Amino acid sequence: MKAISLNLSHTHYVAVEGKTYFLKRHAHSTQLLPTACPHRGGPLHMGEVTGDGQSVICPWHDNAYKVCNLEKKSLPTVRVRNQISTVIGDTERCVPLLKLSRYD
Ligand code: FES
Repeated sequence: MKAISLNLSHTHYVAVEGKTYFLKRHAHSTQLLPTACPHRGGPLHMGEVTGDGQSVICPWHDNAYKVCNLEKKSLPTVRVRNQISTVIGDTERCVPLLKLSRYD
């Protein structure tokens, strides 16, 4: 395993071995959640967050996913000020991204 530190000013997403994750900020934490919806791979990063901040609604079929369930497939993170650290496998490559596509 290796630790990766990312500057939050320059990162909205990360790509790790073909999977992408988006930054979801809460009042007390920041997470890297998978962008692919569990249903059919829709763009969860483009979904709306419910008023209570507990769920993300996928824009493709309007299914709501609790953040606590999405966390099970998230990258482990620790945030200190403007840096977020995560852990990936020794042979994996992590690429910080500002955008996933020209539509983001
Ligand atoms: S792809 Fe997200 S709800 Fe269907």
